[in-house]
Amino acid sequence: MKKIEITAYGVPEEVAHCIDAPDVGAPGPGEIVFDILAFPINPADISFCRGSYRLRPPLPATPGAEGVGRVVAVGEGVSSSREGEFVINMQRENWTQRRRVKAEDAIPVPSGLELAQVAMLRINPPTAFLLLEDHIALAPGDWIIQNVANSAVGRHIIVLGRARGVHTVNVLRRDELAGELRDLGADIVLKDGPDLVERARAATGGAPIRLGIDAVSGEASRRIADCIADGGVVVSYGSMSGQDPTISRAALTRGVTLTGFGLGYGLDKRTTAQIRELYRDLAQKVRAGVLKVPIDTFYPIEEIRGALIRAQQGGRNGKVLVLPNGPL
Ligand SMILES: NC(=O)c1ccc[n+]([C@@H]2O[C@H](COP(=O)([O-])OP(=O)(O)OC[C@H]3O[C@@H](n4cnc5c(N)ncnc54)[C@H](OP(=O)(O)O)[C@@H]3O)[C@@H](O)[C@H]2O)c1
Repeated sequence: MKKIEITAYGVPEEVAHCIDAPDVGAPGPGEIVFDILAFPINPADISFCRGSYRLRPPLPATPGAEGVGRVVAVGEGVSSSREGEFVINMQRENWTQRRRVKAEDAIPVPSGLELAQVAMLRINPPTAFLLLEDHIALAPGDWIIQNVANSAVGRHIIVLGRARGVHTVNVLRRDELAGELRDLGADIVLKDGPDLVERARAATGGAPIRLGIDAVSGEASRRIADCIADGGVVVSYGSMSGQDPTISRAALTRGVTLTGFGLGYGLDKRTTAQIRELYRDLAQKVRAGVLKVPIDTFYPIEEIRGALIRAQQGGRNGKVLVLPNGPL
């Protein structure tokens, strides 16, 4: 069985290796075994390899926060999963050909969905949903602003926001994607820059923007916060700049609040039944093609080095996916 192992924290393509590992073995009581068919390389996986992610397990370690699996064996007493069924794994260490986990950690996914999209279901769709849901009570007609708008999360926010009747100002660093995001339902698309506040005000006609969603951090957070109406909220949920978020005293004085978001913490506030219902709903949206992320490149697991290099390049046309068990 092949799996990815990092032997040190550092430059991802230098510390991650595809190794031969012992098979995971047969499932014990209450366990299932599944083949991982596809996993994406997310920004958090890159941080994990670098050692800058909040989880920093002892080495060697296997990265991989998500992926789609097909069940190959079911242990005694398991009624929630069947052989041949597709699952997403709520546990980590998914950069491998095969996993053995407790059945309760795997969420079954209906068949008939595009597997490459299911591989990206566990993290970014619920993140977008909870970012819209958990910070202010948004009403139809409200405005929000977000950066990294062409990212997977950003695209989901556009789609889910529009479904709620919320207007989006979408900030990115490449002008050429504006049409693509408008087709998804973006109201306004702006290239980030020092005069973002003035351009956002002009584009919205001065409408109050109540929620800011920021995954760049550093000075970009300050620009987002300066666009927010008095008493509004900025949620920091990522740091593509590698910096901590900043906020101006002027924004604080106007009652703008800067807060943070982590998916794990957001899900912890919900019951298992609510979480399963959330994923059921998101899976339906994937099935309907409502939630869809462009894919830049597929790599076999042996080419993890190339996959990691590509995943760190700006200007990609979507996600980098790895197929540990061959073509989908
Ligand atoms: N807190 C949580 O629980 C949670 C959960 C999920 C995701 N996230 C965060 O959400 C963000 C988006 O994740 P994703 O998987 O949706 O990303 P993605 O699809 O891989 O896209 C990455 C985005 O970041 C932009 N980018 C890269 N480097 C940048 C820089 N230095 N300055 C500004 N923009 C930069 C890219 O722009 P170009 O296309 O122009 O290169 C692209 O829009 C990440 O920060 C991730 O860590 C957080």
